[in-house]
Amino acid sequence: MLVLMLVAAATLRLCLVAGAQQLCRIHTVRTGKVFHVSQQIQGDHLYFSSGTPRLIKHPCKKNIALYLGRQIFFTRDNFKSSLLPLSLPTSIKVGIPEVTSAHIAGSVLLLVVNQKVYVYDYEANSWNASIGIEHPVSHISGDNCCYSGHPFCVDISNSVFAYLHGDQISQTHVYFSNTRGYTFQKFAYERQAELVGSLGGVFHFHSLSQVGLLLIDQGKAMFSYSEHPLNRSLGLPFDYNGTLDILITPGQKGILIFWFEKSLLVSGNAGQLVYPVPMDEEPRISYSSVSEANVTIHNIAANQNELAVLTRENSLYYGSLGILPSSLIKFSGQNIWSQEAAVMFTDVGQVEILTPLPDPMFPAFDFQRCPMNVQEILMDPQLQVDVCKVELLQGEFDNRMYSIDMNSKLQLTALMIPRPGRSPVPLAMVSNPHSLGLQVAIYEDGYTYDGNTKHRLNISLRQQHHWGRANPNFTSSIKKPTVSTITLDVANKEISCVDLKPLTALISVGCDQGKKIVIQNKISACSNGILDPVGLQDNYSYIIEKEAYDPNFRGQMSREDLVVNYPYEKLGCPRLVYYNTPWRPVVELWREGKFQEVTKAEFVLLEVNGLFTYTYSLTAQMALCRSQPQNWTTILESAGDKRPFAWDRENYISCHDPDNDAPLRWPDVPYQILGGPTANKVIFDQRNGIYVFFLSIVDPYYSYCHLETTFSVYVYGALPPSIIPTTVTIIPLIMAMLLSVWSAYMIPKLLHTEKGLRLKEFWMNLCRRLRNLCPCFQGRR
Ligand SMILES: *[C@@H]1O[C@H](CO)[C@@H](O)[C@H](O)[C@H]1NC(C)=O
Ligand SMILES: *[C@@H]1O[C@H](CO)[C@@H](O)[C@H](O)[C@H]1NC(C)=O
Ligand SMILES: *[C@@H]1O[C@H](CO)[C@@H](O)[C@H](O)[C@H]1NC(C)=O
Ligand SMILES: *[C@@H]1O[C@H](CO)[C@@H](O)[C@H](O)[C@H]1NC(C)=O
Ligand SMILES: *[C@@H]1O[C@H](CO)[C@@H](O)[C@H](O)[C@H]1NC(C)=O
Ligand SMILES: *[C@@H]1O[C@H](CO)[C@@H](O)[C@H](O)[C@H]1NC(C)=O
Ligand SMILES: *[C@@H]1O[C@H](CO)[C@@H](O)[C@H](O)[C@H]1NC(C)=O
Ligand SMILES: *[C@@H]1O[C@H](CO)[C@@H](O)[C@H](O)[C@H]1NC(C)=O
Repeated sequence: MLVLMLVAAATLRLCLVAGAQQLCRIHTVRTGKVFHVSQQIQGDHLYFSSGTPRLIKHPCKKNIALYLGRQIFFTRDNFKSSLLPLSLPTSIKVGIPEVTSAHIAGSVLLLVVNQKVYVYDYEANSWNASIGIEHPVSHISGDNCCYSGHPFCVDISNSVFAYLHGDQISQTHVYFSNTRGYTFQKFAYERQAELVGSLGGVFHFHSLSQVGLLLIDQGKAMFSYSEHPLNRSLGLPFDYNGTLDILITPGQKGILIFWFEKSLLVSGNAGQLVYPVPMDEEPRISYSSVSEANVTIHNIAANQNELAVLTRENSLYYGSLGILPSSLIKFSGQNIWSQEAAVMFTDVGQVEILTPLPDPMFPAFDFQRCPMNVQEILMDPQLQVDVCKVELLQGEFDNRMYSIDMNSKLQLTALMIPRPGRSPVPLAMVSNPHSLGLQVAIYEDGYTYDGNTKHRLNISLRQQHHWGRANPNFTSSIKKPTVSTITLDVANKEISCVDLKPLTALISVGCDQGKKIVIQNKISACSNGILDPVGLQDNYSYIIEKEAYDPNFRGQMSREDLVVNYPYEKLGCPRLVYYNTPWRPVVELWREGKFQEVTKAEFVLLEVNGLFTYTYSLTAQMALCRSQPQNWTTILESAGDKRPFAWDRENYISCHDPDNDAPLRWPDVPYQILGGPTANKVIFDQRNGIYVFFLSIVDPYYSYCHLETTFSVYVYGALPPSIIPTTVTIIPLIMAMLLSVWSAYMIPKLLHTEKGLRLKEFWMNLCRRLRNLCPCFQGRR
């Protein structure tokens, strides 16, 4: 009987709060009790340390949320069913488990319980204690990036900090994890020992490519940043009253919200500037801060563009989080506040107050939900809200992720339709003007259509460095890949523009994965008939004599000849190079299968089998080096055994760099860098044969990608010294003798070895000179 009644009650119960202003319609979620009858809470019952509850929503997965209060609830269906409180398995013995901080990182839930971090993988339903934290911690911080396909984005979701709030900064232990909290290591902050004050938080501001430490000292707080150029001084100080909770809003825009009962502050630029949020009460009453408005905040919620604040005075304040600060507007309600109530956004303009309700009959809790539609509430004439001056703001780039590499440009377009007679001002902003060096230009191109003027907005983004305006005091290391956001909004937007959200895109300033380099192959050894493509494909191998190679790349002769199998599938037919002509490969940049340009960037070469029978046309001095240039010997020494071919854009230091102060002690060493400003070329020794080269672009300012490739050349035309005829007159004689012998017996057998190829080619040279005498060999091809 009881069961039947409960099944009936399992549908939603709707009821209006009697007498209340119609702010929201309260209903209770009560489901699945029948199936939970046998369920009991297993393990230790978790609770949140603060007197007021918090609600954490997963920024990427709409239905995943965590409620922290006297009980802790974890939902995977956005509280659409009754839930058992979350508990820690008894096998993890922690005493009375008090949670001080929580974070959702990708598919795991991180909880700080009794000063230790625990990981709950909600997909696998497994608990693990974090590894690597040796000192007590109270808080955990992290961010989520929702473009899960991008490696940079995955890194963002995987990185987490753990720290002890309120500890002395100079000696506190901060831990960092790039495994979503499973393992931590000590985080080294460069000037930590010099910093004065207690720790208010540690955050990775991805939109700024900075780690920020919040210092609290004598009622003021300020950020210290890790990276150039912000590491030179502290951020601007702001009032720090009580203990501020810090919320990073989703979307990597660098918007932070700081709050406690009596204070509410916002920063739009990752803490560089923090200001109190003004609050409007009635159309003409406006307060500059929470303390002035004399309200007590119960809790807050934020999404990418909106902020909602629930106060103990049964009011809800609502505002937008735009590029420019804006005030919150008050909606009065009745009975919307209770000690266990928590506010959350379910969608744009959709706020909901959630309260867990215990059930005396069952261990699972029900949820009282009170949803409200902000746009509808704002239409109340009593609020006297101005209509939004923009009818439409639209852009394909909204909520997308882009990549921008060095020397490339990104063009975004948007459409804005103002309300007739109004002329809104569009605003665009990038979150990371320092290290990114992106510049934004808006072209407005108004045309009239249907009586409205539409505005097309063109936004062009590029790296500042390549606009020739980079100031090293302003741009950070442009060698490092980074991330930024671009936000397009309207200046002084009315609060009624609820549905007119700013357009935001995430931009990874880094390698454009579609780029690759190709070595031009205009004259191949096969098309010229010097090498036989059929023979090369048929498991072709050649021998490198021991005098010509060093497997350790140190230029010393080896003990044995080397048999090399030619990887035709990978390398194709070798390019043809005449031994006596200084040579430089032509490197082409391709993007997504399309030719872009012949690169002028600096690059280096290394023969992969250790052949050292080549050198360079320039010496360090001839290349006008100011300092000692790097070479493969010095690079391989410093790289150790880690990577064999470790010369790249990250470790390359130009000898022309004015900041490079290594003295030029050996001006006569060969200069091993090709391309760029010098006319340096490769000079081959008098030796015919296949060379397989590894090529790496080392110019750090060409692309963020590690552009490298492997290709082969066939060096020909060097007459083997031992068989060079002494006088031209005896050639016909030798020819006649050798021809008869080789063509009959040896050539067919040797054709598949390098010696064979060399000999074949020797004959071809002779043939070219004495064409009428040897038609026979050409016929064998
Ligand atoms: C979590 O703990 C279990 C044992 O309790 C272990 O088998 C598993 O490897 C751990 N997972 C990770 C990611 O450390
Ligand atoms: C800031 O960072 C740069 C680059 O890491 C470093 O060279 C510089 O010394 C730092 N400045 C300060 C004041 O720590
Ligand atoms: C912090 O407290 C001081 C003194 O009580 C007050 O003047 C100030 O406005 C408060 N600041 C904020 C941001 O609440
Ligand atoms: C603030 O509000 C409380 C009650 O809500 C009241 O007692 C107090 O006088 C108010 N303070 C100010 C400065 O208005
Ligand atoms: C804006 O971009 C569009 C398409 O990319 C182009 O046709 C138009 O000429 C551009 N307008 C301006 C003012 O640059
Ligand atoms: C960078 O800052 C230093 C000291 O603040 C100053 O001497 C130098 O001129 C600045 N450089 C540029 C390019 O502005
Ligand atoms: C290719 O040649 C190598 C040695 O020269 C030999 O070990 C290998 O089995 C051959 N592979 C084929 C497919 O003939
Ligand atoms: C490499 O450079 C070092 C000095 O940096 C020099 O002593 C050495 O001879 C160079 N090696 C070659 C092969 O040029």
